Amino acid sequence: MFVETFKRYRMEIDLRRRSFSIPELPEGYFFEKWSPALLEAHATAHYLSFRDEMDARLFDNFRTYRGCRRVMESIMSRANFLPDATWLIVYQPKNAYFTEYCASIQGLVTPSGMGAIQNVGVAPRHRGKGLGHALLQAALSGYQRFGLTRADLEVTAANERALHLYHSEGFHIVQFFERAASSRRRKSNG
Ligand SMILES: CC(C)(COP(=O)(O)OP(=O)(O)OC[C@H]1O[C@@H](n2cnc3c(N)ncnc32)[C@H](O)[C@@H]1OP(=O)(O)O)[C@@H](O)C(=O)NCCC(=O)NCCS
Repeated sequence: MFVETFKRYRMEIDLRRRSFSIPELPEGYFFEKWSPALLEAHATAHYLSFRDEMDARLFDNFRTYRGCRRVMESIMSRANFLPDATWLIVYQPKNAYFTEYCASIQGLVTPSGMGAIQNVGVAPRHRGKGLGHALLQAALSGYQRFGLTRADLEVTAANERALHLYHSEGFHIVQFFERAASSRRRKSNG
């Protein structure tokens, strides 16, 4: 059976070099702090952000809403889940009666004290407005409040937009590896 493989990078940031805070968002966009009641909202934002992207070829859970919900359940039930580094962005323009769950990020902490960023995702129609930067800064400020000095993430090498985003926030590549496309077994990341 043919198994597609993907080149991936692990990228790291030294959190002592810069102080992060929760940034202002463009008009109509709001941050929501993690709460278990937001599990479906995170799963929705995650699904909308990843379903048509290259990482959905790598992680099969990313292709369906149910799979994204499983990913969220698995992250939030871990002992090393960090609510302070987990954020949702909601779009609710003035006078509108609808709400869109348009971006999300989750945070774990490894046993060695590394902040492990998971699933940075912005739904396609909300991209290019600074929400990717905002998610990262909010998560990194959560890690700093928790006292961590380093954070990392994984990214597919061909994902130029994400690489650009991570470099411009101060991440650098520390490891290169290959990952085979999935069955439902591995952690997600990046
Ligand atoms: C990567 C992602 C989170 C970026 O979100 P976003 O809201 O568009 O990000 P921002 O608007 O904050 O910034 C994007 C930056 O990338 C730049 N950019 C846009 N398209 C680009 C491209 N094709 N190649 C390189 N850079 C690009 C933008 O100009 C901007 O640059 P700046 O930092 O100099 O201003 C979003 O594209 C996404 O969700 N992708 C699908 C899911 C995914 O792959 N996530 C990453 C997993 S590791």
